[in-house]
Amino acid sequence: MTAYRGTVLHFSGDPAEEEGNVHLVEDGALLVDPAGHVEGVAPWAALTAEQRAGAVQDFRDDLIVPGFVDAHAHSGQIDAIASPGGDLMAWLTKSVYPAEMRFQDPGYARRASGAFLDTMLAAGTTTACVHTTTSKEATGAFFAEAHARNMRVVAGKVLMDDGGGAAPAGYLDASVGQAEDDCRELIERWHGRGRVLYAVTPRFGPTSTEGLLRMAGRLYQEHPGLWMQSHLAETRDEVDQVLDRFADLKPRSYLDVYDRCGMVGPRSVWAHCVWPDHVYRGTGGGHDWDVLRDKGAGVAFCPTSNLFLGSGLFPFARTRRAGVRVGLGTDIGAGTSYSLLATAAEAYKVAALQGEPFDALRGLYLATRGGAEALSLQDRIGGFHPGAEADFAVLDFAATPVLKRRTEAAADLRERLFALMVLGDERAVRAVFVNGRRSTPGASGRPDPR
Ligand code: GUN
Ligand code: ZN
Repeated sequence: MTAYRGTVLHFSGDPAEEEGNVHLVEDGALLVDPAGHVEGVAPWAALTAEQRAGAVQDFRDDLIVPGFVDAHAHSGQIDAIASPGGDLMAWLTKSVYPAEMRFQDPGYARRASGAFLDTMLAAGTTTACVHTTTSKEATGAFFAEAHARNMRVVAGKVLMDDGGGAAPAGYLDASVGQAEDDCRELIERWHGRGRVLYAVTPRFGPTSTEGLLRMAGRLYQEHPGLWMQSHLAETRDEVDQVLDRFADLKPRSYLDVYDRCGMVGPRSVWAHCVWPDHVYRGTGGGHDWDVLRDKGAGVAFCPTSNLFLGSGLFPFARTRRAGVRVGLGTDIGAGTSYSLLATAAEAYKVAALQGEPFDALRGLYLATRGGAEALSLQDRIGGFHPGAEADFAVLDFAATPVLKRRTEAAADLRERLFALMVLGDERAVRAVFVNGRRSTPGASGRPDPR
């Protein structure tokens, strides 16, 4: 057993619902067994003399939290981050499809996938729910790189069989049959191998035929253990396109199109959801939230992306009232930071614009346990309950001069946590552990001072 000494913080549920969901131990220890599972959390003073004299890693000035869970990102967009390009559809056409097409080169696909995962780890993110690209081989390369790092990832090949004139023909699936064969091959090879999990990944309504969505729904229903992910109601223009495109289905909403194709259920993860039925159509119904809650689906709140593309403000308070599972997504490359601290800070601002309270505990919950709940992985990751996989990050309250000064001036630990959320980013990540093993220094290359 190894003891990691520090201030230990984790959650067993939403702190806004129940104070008892917060587990915060100042001068505590996270205890990890040799197989990389959590044994428990205890005050340092409660450890036996033998435990204190055993294997100890001293992070006593730092904060130890579960590894961050990024509920939505695109590995294929590592080189598309920070591309200007207008609204969603214009940006996809101009910057994203060309960037993702580069993954048809196997050498680039392998190097870029590895770099993407290292950048995530350097930001303290140990699990991500990822859209790769339409290339089966590049998706295999992504899984191989994740497996080599022993990361718990949920990911899948992007399915697109209709570009609506905007996506190059050479980037699309040639047919629904080929897309299905590719998925089956990847599922067979990768789903459940090590810590890798497969998500059926139709890109979104505007690049799908009904046949493709139905195939995706069938695959997901057929394998009880698979995940499903897509984008949902990110922009108003997208919602209009989908309601037009699938008018024959007479859908009640965008989500209803997916639902009729069998795609909505447990382990399904929906990115954005800025314009669900009640907001967009002013029906006051709010059916989409009820459907998402009742089916056990998760939603990824991607604030830096929604602000960057001008998509809108995620109705965070409404999701919480409805009891929908919500995590934070960076949505790299529409998102502008790999850091879930920076993403939580933007979530705070989106909530502030809507008059919704949002403190550091809420932000850190969403970045850890909330993300795990959105991905239906809370039994395995996102917290420090005994038996959990020991993925964790050590955060430095004094990582930058601004953060150091502010946290030193703070009256109490909650104020320090808030400063860390708002001012912190990958520079605040002192160390990252994956399944109990320290990950090699990531892309930041910042030497560890200890
Ligand atoms: N909707 C469909 N594809 C994408 C994508 O790559 N990024 C974002 N932000 N939205 C999408
Ligand atoms: Zn996305």
